[in-house]
Amino acid sequence: MQLIDGKSLAKKVQATVTTEVAQLKQEKNIVPGLAVILVGDDPASHAYVKMKAKACENVGVYSITHNMPDTISQDEIIATIEMMNNNPRIDGILVQLPLPKQIDTDKILEVIDPKKDVDGFHAYNVGRLVTGLDSFVPCTPLGVMKMFEEYDIELRGKDVCVVGASNIVGKPMASLLLNAEATVTVTHIYTKDLKAHTSKADIIVVGVGVAGLIKEDMVKEGAVVIDIGMNRIEDGSLVGDVDFPNVSPKCSYITPVPGGVGPMTIAMLLSNTLKSAKARA
Ligand code: GUN
Repeated sequence: MQLIDGKSLAKKVQATVTTEVAQLKQEKNIVPGLAVILVGDDPASHAYVKMKAKACENVGVYSITHNMPDTISQDEIIATIEMMNNNPRIDGILVQLPLPKQIDTDKILEVIDPKKDVDGFHAYNVGRLVTGLDSFVPCTPLGVMKMFEEYDIELRGKDVCVVGASNIVGKPMASLLLNAEATVTVTHIYTKDLKAHTSKADIIVVGVGVAGLIKEDMVKEGAVVIDIGMNRIEDGSLVGDVDFPNVSPKCSYITPVPGGVGPMTIAMLLSNTLKSAKARA
């Protein structure tokens, strides 16, 4: 069993971004800029946004966070996004999700200029991803693809089971894998027999937020297991969606939690912001 070290791969990606950001500044006098819109006071969202801003600072990306109360109107959020769409210093716009209940998330995401949509959530980029055209790709699944590449994990012709069908993780993950010529099964909460699907898979990618969902008897000997889950359990520790102690001995490769996919998400956000700034250049 080999651990996939997301922490060190993320550092490697960030080092490359740092070099290219410096080059862009020197050659074109362009500093990539990221605008983050954060609504409400969800502690997890605040923690993520703080990590994103810190990561920007570390690689030389300019960032600004628009902190808004959860009483804010949809129109005010839209006005802020439009301001960022028209701001020439801003290459990337990220609206931290989830948004408060009274806000129509789909409507908000549609307002973001697709050329600045570094989260890849706009329908324009989703459509381009599904079609296999160049697009902004959501950061978490993009980070998983980077891991497959780094560890030379072949995807063509492989049976891959994606557990979870969210717009942020499962659906774009499935599109990327399909584009890489894998045979993809996507399961979700209404799937009748999850184990029947996972136990056949050469590769399992799981991101549903249920601690320990994937157990030893659900995984084929020698499988690759990618765990996108992040669950805080009673004793305060952070665990994934995979029962790591029991599943890991069966795997050829597995990601730990923490230190697996998590750090890759932020690294890919920086990479997408750089990509957008290069397009501006
Ligand atoms: N909430 C959970 N994951 C994400 C993400 O990747 N991007 C944004 N904007 N919000 C999230």
